[in-house]
Amino acid sequence: MKIDVAILGSTGYTGAELVRLLDAHPYFHLAHLGAHSQAGKTVGRALPGLGGAAADITLRASDAPLPDSVQLVFTALPHGAAADSVQAALAAGKRVIDLSADFRHADASTFKAAYGTEHPHPELLSDAVYGLSEFAREQIRGARLVANPGCYPTSTLLPLVPLLKTGNIEPRGIIVDAKSGTSGAGRSTKTELLFCEVNEGIRAYGMPRHRHAWEMDEWASSFAGLTASVRFVPHILPMTRGMLTTLHLSGRAPETWHGALTSAFAGEPFVRVLPEGQLPSTQGVRGSNRCDIGVCVTGLDSAVVICCLDNLLKGASGQAVQNANLMFGLDETAGLSMHALWP
Ligand SMILES: NC(=O)c1ccc[n+]([C@@H]2O[C@H](COP(=O)([O-])OP(=O)(O)OC[C@H]3O[C@@H](n4cnc5c(N)ncnc54)[C@H](OP(=O)(O)O)[C@@H]3O)[C@@H](O)[C@H]2O)c1
Repeated sequence: MKIDVAILGSTGYTGAELVRLLDAHPYFHLAHLGAHSQAGKTVGRALPGLGGAAADITLRASDAPLPDSVQLVFTALPHGAAADSVQAALAAGKRVIDLSADFRHADASTFKAAYGTEHPHPELLSDAVYGLSEFAREQIRGARLVANPGCYPTSTLLPLVPLLKTGNIEPRGIIVDAKSGTSGAGRSTKTELLFCEVNEGIRAYGMPRHRHAWEMDEWASSFAGLTASVRFVPHILPMTRGMLTTLHLSGRAPETWHGALTSAFAGEPFVRVLPEGQLPSTQGVRGSNRCDIGVCVTGLDSAVVICCLDNLLKGASGQAVQNANLMFGLDETAGLSMHALWP
């Protein structure tokens, strides 16, 4: 017997990736797919990549009642719009994994600082577990609401937290220089994402403080048990998916940092610390749920640490499925065994 799940926002980029992963999952069954402007269409009409039986499923309105059989709801909706759907699903007795930012902050005031609006459901914030799988397994297993991390924070926190825990790196003012493909901005029409605006170029955006900086500060500090802060600059690149994040770190004994990361992630199925001297590329992770980390010592007291992941997989839907596996006591890697698409 498979476990019935629903996806709200199944026509967006992360939602479509969830449909692809869950349709092939050995233990989950797609019982309900929600959409907004595309409700009423079949999945095959809305998502050109989908074939087989899933393509014939009719998309329901986001606020349509969920079938009784559904145990888990993935909300892949814009931030702000997700909170009401999360509240309704929880009220109906479902467990929820929210891919938006609505439940990623422990405190409503941090949400307001980052997103500029009052939190729609502050009463639910204390129920949420921040779902960075490698660092919160036990809490995720028992959670009824998992706040799936953002893609930039995932690519920053995975290498940063174990290094902060060594006590050897300077925790304040960490420079996080990150690049993302355009799927990171979602599927909706935006002038700055038109082909002509993105192609053959690179630009920074989200200045002076991108909203993910609050998420990085909060969870780097929380997981490492100290006060950390980042200076984060995101950039958009003319590629469809992929993320490369470079951390500029200073502190003591940088020659030991590669070993510290290797030990921290020993046995982890989805985090690979590359051999010394080898640096990651987005092509090495595209289409997989893996995060690749490389370390390069740059001085007696400094190193750069580079992290690559696929923003739609380990940065969003892949990590959401990893968390769903944890929540239901399944093999954490179930449905996620794909290698990167290479070349
Ligand atoms: N893209 C990434 O790499 C990434 C990574 C991590 C986290 N996230 C987060 O995941 C969430 C989804 O991102 P995405 O990139 O998949 O977005 P997207 O491509 O823009 O898709 C948005 C989805 O939400 C639906 N929708 C739009 N407005 C709505 C509203 N007012 N009420 C209910 N549903 C609405 C859309 O339905 P219709 O198509 O039917 O209109 C679509 O299914 C966002 O909160 C985003 O920040 C994204």
